[in-house]
Amino acid sequence: MSQVSFDEPTRTFLLTTPASSYALRIDADDNPRHVHWGAPLTLGQAAALPTHDGVTSSFASTGGEELAVEGGARFGVPALLVRYADGARGVEWAYEGHDIAEGRLHVRLRDHHHPLGCTLHYAVHEDSDVVERSLTLRHLGTAESADAPIEILRCDAASWSVPAVSGVRLSHTVGEWSGETQLRRTEAPYAETVFTSRRGVSGHYGNPWLMVDAGGADESHGEVWSMVLAWSGSWRITAQRDHTGGPFTVTGGAGHDGLTWRLLPGESHETPVFAGQFSRGGFGATSRGWHRYVAAHVLPCPDEVRPVIYNSWEATGWDVTPEGQRALAVRAADLGAELFVVDDGWFGQRTSDRAGLGDWHPNPERFPHGLGPLVEEIRQLGMGFGLWVEPEMTNPDSDLYREHPDWVLHMPHRRRTELRHQLVLNFARTDVTEWAFKWLDGLVSTYAIDYLKWDMNRAFTEAGWPGHPDAERLWTDHTRGVYSVLDRLRRAHPDLRIEGCAGGGGRADLGMLARTDQTWISDNTDADDRIAIQHGYSQIYPARTMSAWVTDSPNPHTARITPLSHRFHIAMAGALGIGGDLSRWTEAELTEAREMVGVYKEIRPVVQFGEQFRLDDAVQYHAGDRVVVIAWGRDRDLRLAGLSPTDVYVDDATGTEHHAATLLTHGLPLRLPAGERPSAVLRLTRR
Ligand code: GLA
Repeated sequence: MSQVSFDEPTRTFLLTTPASSYALRIDADDNPRHVHWGAPLTLGQAAALPTHDGVTSSFASTGGEELAVEGGARFGVPALLVRYADGARGVEWAYEGHDIAEGRLHVRLRDHHHPLGCTLHYAVHEDSDVVERSLTLRHLGTAESADAPIEILRCDAASWSVPAVSGVRLSHTVGEWSGETQLRRTEAPYAETVFTSRRGVSGHYGNPWLMVDAGGADESHGEVWSMVLAWSGSWRITAQRDHTGGPFTVTGGAGHDGLTWRLLPGESHETPVFAGQFSRGGFGATSRGWHRYVAAHVLPCPDEVRPVIYNSWEATGWDVTPEGQRALAVRAADLGAELFVVDDGWFGQRTSDRAGLGDWHPNPERFPHGLGPLVEEIRQLGMGFGLWVEPEMTNPDSDLYREHPDWVLHMPHRRRTELRHQLVLNFARTDVTEWAFKWLDGLVSTYAIDYLKWDMNRAFTEAGWPGHPDAERLWTDHTRGVYSVLDRLRRAHPDLRIEGCAGGGGRADLGMLARTDQTWISDNTDADDRIAIQHGYSQIYPARTMSAWVTDSPNPHTARITPLSHRFHIAMAGALGIGGDLSRWTEAELTEAREMVGVYKEIRPVVQFGEQFRLDDAVQYHAGDRVVVIAWGRDRDLRLAGLSPTDVYVDDATGTEHHAATLLTHGLPLRLPAGERPSAVLRLTRR
């Protein structure tokens, strides 16, 4: 039973989730201090705990605060940095009270002198060990009063304290374009460690989450504290390890270093959610906890089966023609694809990446009768219709840019740096988001579009907004603008489904997943490379959101030659798609592909909705009576996970019976087919 309780005499709050507890306390100086995050405690036990006293000597101070502010003898990483008109900095809190309702706690604070209010928000759910945290800053002055704006130098969403343990190991991902979400585990240095994106998107180079363990956790054992920021723009998470043995602190929120903006009298600012989860079941249980949370509390349509998609990008590049697309669609439908997505190259003068972004009408030479006839044919083939868009961008060679050169992020007397020959439209401007919503709404209505792939292919540079009195707000407001257009679009078109993409997996995060259905996690479709990328993605995000295509061999990115079965098996670990040039596939390949799509549709409910266990060179999915294992590498006895030992399973293909007890201890005898890069899909059903 998830709940929030309060011990009045010690001013201790306890948040209870099914398998963890989180406690904080308002101390004698009215500071909200951390008390506990870990195994379940009663309110009495939590109230009896001492407060983590951050200030241990006249020189040292670390952590232990729910929101590390600047002010007094604090020398750790500040989560909130403010400057008032009189030059004073920092905060001295006065506790104003709290509200508790339906798994939510709001702690109200204000500065005892300056007109700054802050409410710390906490939320817990019945079905999850995730604690959601965020805050609202308020300028308590009014526009009519003489109050000056308050300068905000940093405003994190939350600070987390992980109890001091013998070692501190961090898990996180690093990456790059075409090599996203590479998992790294590393001992935390005795220092401040910054994880960040300064690109305007959450980024390819790191994903906004962190896991902490004492160094010994593995997939199935050990205490793990994990934190995930639900934000799609620039971000910063700073971890601090202190040799004096205090708690390990992690503070994080939107925006990167050096951005400053002003909170105006009467104005409120809501941070994104920085959520945390404690688990005693190692990294596997931690990931499954996040998968369940994303399904129950983040995704708009979690229970819908994700369709088998065909996407034409790797087949045609920018050479999009009705004939070419039609030919691919006929073959895709024959293989069992359920949705056909026309990628980049259908609009404006978009015959390469040099022109056309911003001119969102069908290319008149390529589609003289609009997209209508092609859409009609795709529907007649029994597939839904999807379209690629990149609404936040424009090429300087476009009618849009010629008409509105001021709509892009830019600064006076600075060059406009082009990346992929394009510039970023300022989605913090409401005229820009109005324009975007209008054409998107029109496009979706005209063609009754089922699916949009929303791309974003470059980082911000010269991120200015000439004429605006507080331009650096755009770093947050651009992301909010993107959210608002996506939200409006979904409200206006409840049947529309959306795939998030940013040059592959450059914006794969909970902020986007709250308003999309799938993520294009990498432009790299090489099955071998995908194994690591998918492994990293699966740490937090569930398989149903992971678009994965089967493409050609040799792979266009890596030139690696891989058997079709292996390409299919690895892509079946998520939401299967096909992206190869089907016009060049042989009859034998088409036949094999048709069979593989059939297999996927049969295992799809288990893969998309089951619990996922990462095994050694294999992934296991478990839902109800069914177990699906996707395995690669070599022959071996593969130990399965998460089964009830008294159950008996039958191999769907061979009829062989296996005791779950032996599958868990001795393993499933895995005999892979002969040849290069062997792999298999195994299906077991409980007897
Ligand atoms: C990005 C996407 C690709 C494709 C191209 C089109 O790179 O990640 O999947 O849509 O843009 O230009």
